[in-house]
Amino acid sequence: MEKQDHVHVAILPLPAVGHVNSMLNLAELLGHAGIKITFLNTEHYYDRVIRHSSDAFSRYMQIPGFQFKTLTDGLPRDHPRTPDKFPELVDSLNCATPPLLKEMVSDSKSPVNCIITDGYMSRAIDAAREVGVSIIYFRTISACAFWSFHCIPDIIDAGELPIKGTEDMDRLITTVPGMEGFLRCRDLPSFCRVNDPMDPHLLLFARETRLSAHADGLILNTFEDLEGPILSQIRNHSCPNIYSIGPLNAHLKVRIPEKTYSSSSLWKIDRSCMAWLDKQPKQSVIYVSFGSIAVMSRDQLIEFYYGLVHSKKNFLWVIRPDLISGKDGENQIPEELLEATKERGCIAGWVPQEEVLAHSAVGGFLTHCGWNSTLESIVAGMPMICWPSFADQQINSRFVGEVWKLGLDIKDLCDRNIVEKTVNDLMVERKEEFMESADRMANLAKKSVNKGGSSYCNLDRLVNDIKMMSSQPQNC
Ligand SMILES: *[C@@H]1O[C@H](CO)[C@@H](O)[C@H](O)[C@H]1NC(C)=O
Ligand SMILES: *[C@@H]1O[C@H](CO)[C@@H](O)[C@H](O)[C@H]1NC(C)=O
Repeated sequence: MEKQDHVHVAILPLPAVGHVNSMLNLAELLGHAGIKITFLNTEHYYDRVIRHSSDAFSRYMQIPGFQFKTLTDGLPRDHPRTPDKFPELVDSLNCATPPLLKEMVSDSKSPVNCIITDGYMSRAIDAAREVGVSIIYFRTISACAFWSFHCIPDIIDAGELPIKGTEDMDRLITTVPGMEGFLRCRDLPSFCRVNDPMDPHLLLFARETRLSAHADGLILNTFEDLEGPILSQIRNHSCPNIYSIGPLNAHLKVRIPEKTYSSSSLWKIDRSCMAWLDKQPKQSVIYVSFGSIAVMSRDQLIEFYYGLVHSKKNFLWVIRPDLISGKDGENQIPEELLEATKERGCIAGWVPQEEVLAHSAVGGFLTHCGWNSTLESIVAGMPMICWPSFADQQINSRFVGEVWKLGLDIKDLCDRNIVEKTVNDLMVERKEEFMESADRMANLAKKSVNKGGSSYCNLDRLVNDIKMMSSQPQNC
């Protein structure tokens, strides 16, 4: 292979907002380090999201050597591609993409010499091996979630899964090294809540995570001071070569400070909440958002609503147009709640979350504990109340509450009295304690992405490794 002037990396995320946005952050960091990037999206995702938010995406086009390219996910046009069909999507992508990746590697004009894919693309490893290029995985989840996924076969072997009914949910799981004392059934990733150990989701997550060990490296959006002990488990038992380079949003601001950031979203951002926040006293507002995908029933919404109103705190609540499952939602909110909202609440369709979390009026975050939101909250030094809905959120919230002491976990509970009490615990009774630990972790996060910090050094190492990998022919 001839040495090129520019190293060329193909990046392939799964077609989901959190995955694509995190991998765009990575692409921008690598592009900034002089690496040529081809960023792959499925046609479906490109048409649905990227084409419609060209403002948010135009900044990537300005990176020298950056290009978007689309590929088919292999599914029929009218396939719903909903979260419950995730295994079908992953299997289909795994069949459809390897030929294209191989083609890109042997392209005569600008061959790709390193592939970075989402960790669910295990077939890409074989493709990379066949054509002799390096492949690095990027998992957009926390290290603790990754490690629990990895251990699923051991948990099943030990007879600790499947879960036998709801009375079983507080039982401790003893077969995830490093989490023996505190990991309960209910903290396992949500796809473990099945009766059948042969369930397709369960098998898919376990299989794809185990296969990660065969890649040349694993990139994680986390940092050593947050997840060091778990990262050490993964290094010793799965992937020795980990690049922990997070929190990515903070890392970007250090490396490319002159840019302005707007991440892409599916909804129109409502900025009027910022003016509302400006009028509220310091740390008086609880910010509520259940993320970009989760849905809740109208009854659940009403429980949270009463809880928030009875807490007597001011609240800023993101209610996406599609948050409520089923129909006939919004019009039937009880009058007393609407009155209280006029007094102390602000409801928005979608907000600039990083700005909200950084606003001095905000004093707590009621979150679904998606990894992106959890990291944004950590960087902002904002204590959390966690109400996870699915996937890795169940384990993230256990770490937030029990290990990092950054907030309170109310998973599996939906009761107005509990919401009211928890908001007051977080923002009044135990405010000092939580503010202090959140502050401490925010400082560690910032330290890690600044010059000399662990994430900063790991990104330099990643860039060097990619450049080295690309200048030597691979023959494994
Ligand atoms: C993180 O989440 C927030 C709120 O859900 C969203 O606005 C932002 O685009 C997300 N960022 C990434 C990198 O996914
Ligand atoms: C991983 O291995 C290193 C070196 O053998 C050891 O010092 C460390 O304690 C191990 N960590 C875990 C979590 O097993």
